[in-house]
Amino acid sequence: MHENDKRLAAKAALVEVRQGMKIGLGTGSTACHFVDLVGGLVREGLACVCVPTSVATERQARALGIPLAELDEVGRLDLTVDGADEVDPALNLIKGGGGALLREKIVAAATDRMVVIADGTKKVDHLGRFPLPIEINPFAAGTTTRAVQNVARQSGCRGSIVLRESADGHPFLTDGGHFILDASFGLISAPEALSRALLDIPGVVQHGLFLGMCKVAYLADNGTVTQLGA
Ligand code: A5P
Repeated sequence: MHENDKRLAAKAALVEVRQGMKIGLGTGSTACHFVDLVGGLVREGLACVCVPTSVATERQARALGIPLAELDEVGRLDLTVDGADEVDPALNLIKGGGGALLREKIVAAATDRMVVIADGTKKVDHLGRFPLPIEINPFAAGTTTRAVQNVARQSGCRGSIVLRESADGHPFLTDGGHFILDASFGLISAPEALSRALLDIPGVVQHGLFLGMCKVAYLADNGTVTQLGA
């Protein structure tokens, strides 16, 4: 059921695509549907240049024959379509469940119109139910983790903060070679303050709070697509 909704949300976002656009391609199981659909449009004659947000998305897009470029080559993007782990009513997001949050945020920040696609389970009243991914440098990861724990306490966030592991039991490594902490806060009551405080920690590379970046979300719930934002 969720898979159908992911596809539906991805299809709904095709209304955003125009000839000649520079498009950021998100990462994850929902963004994967959008990439697939863009591949179909390219085969039918769509001219576009796309910037992938992860190695996985780059591989998929390349296999589909989608023209790709580095973000540095194209400068700003017209549109980025990406998934999310949580979307609140103000279109603030938690992202990074798939570990691509750093490149996703760099690409989103260089985009005129960031669009989120998701199934209805991602819609929340308040951010924090999904563990917040925090990307950290592997150097002195323990020191950085303790600093993150202190910042969380000072920001009124409770809950466990764990180092993400791969299936082999080793720390999960992002495309940039960093670690990820997953912070199960339950409720993030002051996301802006938490965001700033986390970014003040030297070992924190980035976190998965995407605040004020998303313009519109297409959310599909049991076959019905709702648009949030404009
Ligand atoms: C990837 O790092 C994430 O930000 C994804 O966009 C997010 O986790 C949503 O992924 P799914 O579409 O697979 O749920």
